[in-house]
Amino acid sequence: MSSNEQIIGRQDVNDLAAILAVSNTDVHAVVHAVEDNADAIFTWDYEKGKRPALNKLYEKAKHSQWNGETDLDWSIDVDPMQLVELQRIEFGPTDRAQFIGTPFELWTDAQFDVMAMEQNNWMLSQFMHGEQGALICTAKIVETVPWIDAKYYAATQVMDEARHVEVFARYLDTKLNGHYPLNAHLGLLLDDIINDSRWDMTYLGMQIMVEGLALAAFGFMQQTTPEPLLKQLLRYVMSDEARHVAFGVLSLKEYYEELSFAEIRERQEFAFESAVRMRDRLLMQEVLERMDVDVHAAVKMAMEDEGRLLFQQMLFSKIVPNCKKLGLLDAGDGWLRQKFGELGVIQFEDLTDTSDEYEAFALDDANLQSASTA
Ligand SMILES: [Fe+2]
Ligand SMILES: [Fe+2]
Repeated sequence: MSSNEQIIGRQDVNDLAAILAVSNTDVHAVVHAVEDNADAIFTWDYEKGKRPALNKLYEKAKHSQWNGETDLDWSIDVDPMQLVELQRIEFGPTDRAQFIGTPFELWTDAQFDVMAMEQNNWMLSQFMHGEQGALICTAKIVETVPWIDAKYYAATQVMDEARHVEVFARYLDTKLNGHYPLNAHLGLLLDDIINDSRWDMTYLGMQIMVEGLALAAFGFMQQTTPEPLLKQLLRYVMSDEARHVAFGVLSLKEYYEELSFAEIRERQEFAFESAVRMRDRLLMQEVLERMDVDVHAAVKMAMEDEGRLLFQQMLFSKIVPNCKKLGLLDAGDGWLRQKFGELGVIQFEDLTDTSDEYEAFALDDANLQSASTA
């Protein structure tokens, strides 16, 4: 059995010095190359619909394409202060008493507002980078998955992800003040997913873990933001993401039934590694560096903040039930159940899994109407 040291590079998941030691040193590079180590697989079995659930998803995807250029109202002027309101909801009220003895003790309201705008910009930037990760991973799945129904579906997802990268980049560059570089923890995870030679690991890392977290985060932001363009953009993106997560669950459910105990254990370890990387990225260390505060002290404070902790845990509300549905929580001796317990997210295991939630997120008229007014 692998140790934490072997899986995530440190023994204690909460080792703050080790977490902060991981930083992006490549911030000025325009490209980043990753070996993808996988064989491209042709299949000569062209029977369409052999996997009915994937076929249904593919047919649905063909009818659910939208155009980021024309379907979103880019004439809306974005008031960044409306986004600050969102940060206040996510990260709790700025009660002055709680900052005594911390790096924020002498901060003015204006400084908190600037940080909130930076946090928002950072969050949306990491979504954009994650979307590019999804674009690359799904193109890889088209090559590596051996089933024709999955290749067909993945091809539609490649188009979806291109659209997502496009709309997040446009929002950041034309409505806010540009973007943050890729967070190093998210970068480690994306590199590991792309680097792995086994086709199902792309699905586990991307469709189950990264997109599972994104679906929860988008849902929260979509419901809470008062900014109309972001609300609309996230609603459109979510209608696609719900299908993507379903694609992961449906494909892996079938494949995992054939795997040995040792192979399942490797998947459990990868799920744990991914969860830790995503949790570490949420500490937003780059924002604190930009705000010129004592990063170690501020991150320590963030790790102990109850409101932030609840928000962070909520982001795992799609991942945990999906891992359960795939049999990953309890396989073997329940190793992943114990690890998710240590991360404080096991309480979500009995929420609905997302293998058919995409119907509820579809862009039909009724859903869209409630999205723009909710
Ligand atoms: Fe996406
Ligand atoms: Fe996606």
